[in-house]
Amino acid sequence: VGVVIESGVARVVIGATDPDPRVSGRGIAALQDAGIEVDVLDSAGARAVDPAYFRHRETGLPTVTLKTAMTLDGSVAAGDGTSRWITGEQARADAHLLRSQMDAVIVGAGTLRSDDPSLDVRLDGYDGHQPRPVIVAGEEQLPGGQQLWSRHPVVVASTEIGIPSGDLLVVEGGRHPDPRAACVALAGIGLLDLLLEGGPTLAGEWWRAGVVTRGVTYIAGLLGAGSGIQPFGGDFATLADANVVTITGVRSLGADLRVDYERD
Ligand SMILES: NC(=O)c1ccc[n+]([C@@H]2O[C@H](COP(=O)([O-])OP(=O)(O)OC[C@H]3O[C@@H](n4cnc5c(N)ncnc54)[C@H](OP(=O)(O)O)[C@@H]3O)[C@@H](O)[C@H]2O)c1
Repeated sequence: VGVVIESGVARVVIGATDPDPRVSGRGIAALQDAGIEVDVLDSAGARAVDPAYFRHRETGLPTVTLKTAMTLDGSVAAGDGTSRWITGEQARADAHLLRSQMDAVIVGAGTLRSDDPSLDVRLDGYDGHQPRPVIVAGEEQLPGGQQLWSRHPVVVASTEIGIPSGDLLVVEGGRHPDPRAACVALAGIGLLDLLLEGGPTLAGEWWRAGVVTRGVTYIAGLLGAGSGIQPFGGDFATLADANVVTITGVRSLGADLRVDYERD
């Protein structure tokens, strides 16, 4: 509150209810005493502005959005691992916008090795917020030459491993970090809105662990017409194992589609 008052802003929009026990409501009075206009949003309004904050304060968990870009027949890469580019320019620009709304973008060690991604927001003229890159690793040494190291990533592992730059978060788990423990640890360093960009092994493990809350799937006007790499590693053995999701939006982006869904 002190920082807000000192900044000289004239008007503050604030949520009426905050699940954080440290919030007592005295801040509103202090702002008004300092002559700042305060608009108070009702609880639904405040939640709509920052749902990840509320989810974290209520459950201790971050919001995890799974991003997938796949062919119309459901491959995220061809059999040889090539995946650039499955979707067209408009869908890719939209995916960069999605990144810009996130605290962090997460990939597994496999995607780091095969794609050498930079996980940043690349849009013409954009110089705003960049999400923190996160790598979820195993016990193996990670390759040192990848471009992501220049962005000081967070590496989550279940054991001490050497990394060329960034911060290592060691969390419980077996050979790999327990997904829930990884999420709690990332929230613990202030990363509440997480974009999980795969690859299939990590997406499958995190989905089955129940930590993925919502998803954005780009479906390309492109057909592999054969068995490429599936969006989720692991087995889909019987229909009863499928999870119900609610589709919350479908829109066209050039020749591709964007489908938004929430896990029930
Ligand atoms: N189109 C898309 O949306 C998209 C997005 C991303 C990737 N891809 C494609 O996916 C392919 C890479 O697939 P991938 O499955 O190898 O990548 P991945 O899921 O990114 O990485 C798998 C690796 O992550 C580590 N890991 C961390 N937590 C794990 C856990 N709980 N369980 C198992 N492993 C865990 C393991 O590393 P260790 O082996 O070191 O133990 C594992 O081998 C590439 O062809 C890439 O182009 C496509």
